[in-house]
Amino acid sequence: MPTALIILAAGQGSRMNSDLPKVLHKIAGTSLLAHAMGSADALMPQRCVVVAGHEAELVRAEALSLGVVDVVLQEEQLGTGHAVLQARDALADFDGDALVLYGDTPFISPKTLEKLAEARKDHAVVVLGFEAADAGRYGRLITEGSTLERIVEFKDATPEERAVTLCNSGVIAADSKVLFDLLDAVKNDNAAGEFYLPDVVAIACERGLSAGFVTCDESETLGINTRAELARAEGIFQSMKRAEALENGVTLLAPETVFFASDTFIGRDAVIEQNVVFGPEVTIESGALIRAFSHLEGCHVSRGAIIGPYARLRPGAEISEDVRIGNFVEIKNATIAEGAKVNHLSYVGDASVGLRSNLGAGTVTCNYDGVMKHRTEIGNDVFIGSSTMLVAPVSVGNRAMTASGSVITTDVPAEALAIGRAKQVNKLGLAEKLFSRLVAIKAKKSAGKK
Ligand code: UD1
Ligand code: MG
Repeated sequence: MPTALIILAAGQGSRMNSDLPKVLHKIAGTSLLAHAMGSADALMPQRCVVVAGHEAELVRAEALSLGVVDVVLQEEQLGTGHAVLQARDALADFDGDALVLYGDTPFISPKTLEKLAEARKDHAVVVLGFEAADAGRYGRLITEGSTLERIVEFKDATPEERAVTLCNSGVIAADSKVLFDLLDAVKNDNAAGEFYLPDVVAIACERGLSAGFVTCDESETLGINTRAELARAEGIFQSMKRAEALENGVTLLAPETVFFASDTFIGRDAVIEQNVVFGPEVTIESGALIRAFSHLEGCHVSRGAIIGPYARLRPGAEISEDVRIGNFVEIKNATIAEGAKVNHLSYVGDASVGLRSNLGAGTVTCNYDGVMKHRTEIGNDVFIGSSTMLVAPVSVGNRAMTASGSVITTDVPAEALAIGRAKQVNKLGLAEKLFSRLVAIKAKKSAGKK
């Protein structure tokens, strides 16, 4: 069945106490909106309409970056039913199911949505419900056997209805044309004075259409309303990612100290030591070792490579097989070829390092002239002496060397030794004289103080 997502994201989210619209807040580096959309990936939706309201331009920009083409505006927030109706024009040419999701509810699982889609074979309208530990102010599902008769909002419910613990998650699916027709009949004569989306259930039943429900675990329906809930959701997500990594054969020495982005990919038999942070877009191949206190984002680490401890890999770091990146080394937008070593206190940015080359402690690619960035190209089997400054644009040929402490400003030909430092002079006996003089000055000063 072709599916169109309608994602409600017009609410203000005032309890976040933020300038940012709620759905742009992030879990594991990815917006709540992207999480909500991602939960429906398994249904391979053909269309996605995001209903924006508060800070609509920011929401639109994020939606467009996620590949959503239809972002519609709900100028006034008159209720969830009114919000869904705003998607009608965008879906005028669409034949298939509409699936309504909330932009602030990131944990609905693909399995649950598949179950919902399956139940659509038996019912015109299907709602996702859950058994709540504390039903609080959720809408209640009023059922008769396997049919759903209506949904009553907490504010409008009688004490008997409030005693029901089967609650409305807000997720609903129906043929899109049917859904919009039902919504036309929804009125706002209720306690909140809003157009309630859940009212379509009772209207469907009145019209002789069947409504049904499926359920999921309450944890999936967790909505984010406050920073505290966002922090809790981040914790839940991290626990899920850790469990998934362990399940996939990754060794985590101290799982609770490792933090993932939503798209982190780690191959089997990779080992991740304590206190490692993965930002977005990281792939780690099988058998790589990421040592303690390393921070990685936008990079790729190949098999057999050892990173850290205390390493920082930034976007565009391409680490080939058997490379060593050691402590206090930062790599950005640079390709480090097989077997190369950058072991201590170095910065390698906008560069390529060839096969088996060794960069000594304190090597710096001086890539920025204050206005523009420039590249450093280092060949194969090169030895860069400790504390070499490579002032880009510059290249070092195959099997070349640089002397420690050099400032390299012009290209070094293959097999050459480049020495770019002041010549050393030894003044015999001068140190001894200097020491005596300094000791005498110090003695005189402390005598003066007495
Ligand atoms: C809604 C349901 C309730 C359900 C609960 C689950 C209704 C009337 N009630 O209540 O049955 O148990 O969710 O969390 O639907 N939104 C808009 N435009 C609007 C109003 C809301 O885009 O005009 C968006 C909000 O940004 C939010 C979502 O819709 O993402 C739900 O709105 P909210 O006000 O939180 O509904 P609840 O009162 O919690
Ligand atoms: Mg709510």
